[in-house]
Amino acid sequence: MRCSLAILAIAASVAAQNSTSNTTLASVLTSNSNLSNLTSLVTSLNLVDTLSQLTNVTILAPSNAAFTKFMNSSVANTTLGDKGLLTALLTYHVLNGTINSSQIASMPTFVPTHLTNELVSNVTDGQRVEALNSSGTISFLSGLLTNSTVTQADITYNNGIIHVIDTVLEPPQDVAETAEAFNLTAIVGALTTLSLADIVDETSDLTIFAPNNDAFQAIASVLSNASTDTLKSVLTYHVIPGKVLYSPLIENGTQTTLNNSTLTLTVANGSVFVNQARVVTPNVLVANGVVHVIDSVLNPGSNATAGSNSSTAFPNATSASGVPFTSGVPTPTSVASVPSQVTAASTTGSSSSAGAAKAMATGMFGAGVLFAGALLAL
Ligand SMILES: *[C@@H]1O[C@H](CO)[C@@H](O)[C@H](O)[C@H]1NC(C)=O
Ligand SMILES: *[C@@H]1O[C@H](CO)[C@@H](O)[C@H](O)[C@H]1NC(C)=O
Ligand SMILES: *[C@@H]1O[C@H](CO)[C@@H](O)[C@H](O)[C@H]1NC(C)=O
Ligand SMILES: *[C@@H]1O[C@H](CO)[C@@H](O)[C@H](O)[C@H]1NC(C)=O
Ligand SMILES: *[C@@H]1O[C@H](CO)[C@@H](O)[C@H](O)[C@H]1NC(C)=O
Ligand SMILES: *[C@@H]1O[C@H](CO)[C@@H](O)[C@H](O)[C@H]1NC(C)=O
Ligand SMILES: *[C@@H]1O[C@H](CO)[C@@H](O)[C@H](O)[C@H]1NC(C)=O
Ligand SMILES: *[C@@H]1O[C@H](CO)[C@@H](O)[C@H](O)[C@H]1NC(C)=O
Ligand SMILES: *[C@@H]1O[C@H](CO)[C@@H](O)[C@H](O)[C@H]1NC(C)=O
Ligand SMILES: *[C@@H]1O[C@H](CO)[C@@H](O)[C@H](O)[C@H]1NC(C)=O
Ligand SMILES: *[C@@H]1O[C@H](CO)[C@@H](O)[C@H](O)[C@H]1NC(C)=O
Ligand SMILES: *[C@@H]1O[C@H](CO)[C@@H](O)[C@H](O)[C@H]1NC(C)=O
Repeated sequence: MRCSLAILAIAASVAAQNSTSNTTLASVLTSNSNLSNLTSLVTSLNLVDTLSQLTNVTILAPSNAAFTKFMNSSVANTTLGDKGLLTALLTYHVLNGTINSSQIASMPTFVPTHLTNELVSNVTDGQRVEALNSSGTISFLSGLLTNSTVTQADITYNNGIIHVIDTVLEPPQDVAETAEAFNLTAIVGALTTLSLADIVDETSDLTIFAPNNDAFQAIASVLSNASTDTLKSVLTYHVIPGKVLYSPLIENGTQTTLNNSTLTLTVANGSVFVNQARVVTPNVLVANGVVHVIDSVLNPGSNATAGSNSSTAFPNATSASGVPFTSGVPTPTSVASVPSQVTAASTTGSSSSAGAAKAMATGMFGAGVLFAGALLAL
């Protein structure tokens, strides 16, 4: 059962408050000139009181510089002027729990937020944001691995804590939009061709292992000869239903897939393997779960595991010159960039200092635009 902001507000009003330090959210917002754009936005949405009354929260407050970048993005194009989407965007910036900067470690954590509206985000207990400390820099990664770095930490007020961030969070988008932004055109095409897009988009709490284009290309001969039923079974073998497994939570063991088969997960030498495939980009948040990009296609009929050569799952396959399933799939003009430290080690937040250029989304977030009116019922 999801809590609406209104219900939480009622709960908050009966909660005890600390009378010896009573700095209100409104006073923090108005006294910080770097947050004037956020203050205007919250005021224009009539949400100052509702936000102020939420207890035990962490607010990620985009600075004016963050808003300036946001205004020039294509996300702003669809979001601004739509009160429902703006409200959903704002709730994604409200984390459940008071988390000060010293609690954020190099091992990433996936913190639940108040973005619980099913029309935008279908993750039980609220969409997550990834929090990590890389060599003393605290950042939050959101949809498309967008990097929001904390520029001012630990501003406390009576009901919670505020961290100022340099980039507006990106609400996770659906699987196809996200895959396209990472140039994973083969899986986008496969989901469409095999009519699997709806089930993948409309089921909550999924963990999806998405093979990259090279992986599909390497087994092109098998794909071109397989029946539709076989292909569906291969694709659904890449999805774990009912569990959102962020990579730090992945342990050695087996998991049941959407086609009721079994995957073997292995964590070895700082890498995560699913059967024989290695996770090359972990923890890409999507509207209804998480995507991990892998380097080879999984075969439900194979027992290949970590350490096997990537070709062992389909031993007789040969590649082709083109990327399978991509006819009709638009080639992205810009591709989301992956922070190098995200690709390097998925189980620890290791120390490379590479920054991630902000990837501007090409679409709106999730199904939100279609149902924007309904979002006002938060
Ligand atoms: C109230 O806040 C003050 C100052 O932050 C702190 O010292 C005190 O322990 C708090 N009291 C309660 C009951 O939380
Ligand atoms: C804190 O301040 C607000 C606004 O001034 C007031 O409404 C509220 O009652 C105060 N709370 C406490 C516990 O003093
Ligand atoms: C953001 O704040 C700056 C500085 O106060 C102001 O010039 C600008 O118009 C504001 N932008 C929006 C979108 O409110
Ligand atoms: C928003 O996007 C549409 C379609 O791409 C475009 O025609 C329009 O000019 C854009 N508006 C702004 C304010 O960027
Ligand atoms: C605050 O929220 C966190 C995370 O939801 C929870 O673990 C903790 O118990 C809450 N604390 C209070 C005082 O409600
Ligand atoms: C916040 O977390 C608590 C448990 O720690 C949970 O009961 C509550 O529903 C969560 N609130 C939201 C808005 O997700
Ligand atoms: C996307 O992938 C295709 C096929 O692997 C490649 O030809 C193309 O250059 C890539 N596009 C970008 C923008 O990286
Ligand atoms: C959210 O997930 C549930 C359970 O999988 C599903 O029944 C529901 O239709 C989904 N909602 C949306 C808006 O996709
Ligand atoms: C899944 O497989 C198990 C064991 O092979 C079987 O007992 C169960 O009925 C299957 N469930 C579905 C939904 O096919
Ligand atoms: C997981 O399995 C790998 C490979 O068998 C092994 O090296 C590693 O120690 C195992 N990890 C744990 C925590 O058992
Ligand atoms: C995998 O299956 C093949 C053929 O069924 C068998 O020869 C091999 O021993 C199996 N390998 C493992 C690790 O179970
Ligand atoms: C986010 O960007 C900052 C500043 O560019 C950088 O120091 C930090 O390492 C980046 N974080 C991640 C996880 O990529």
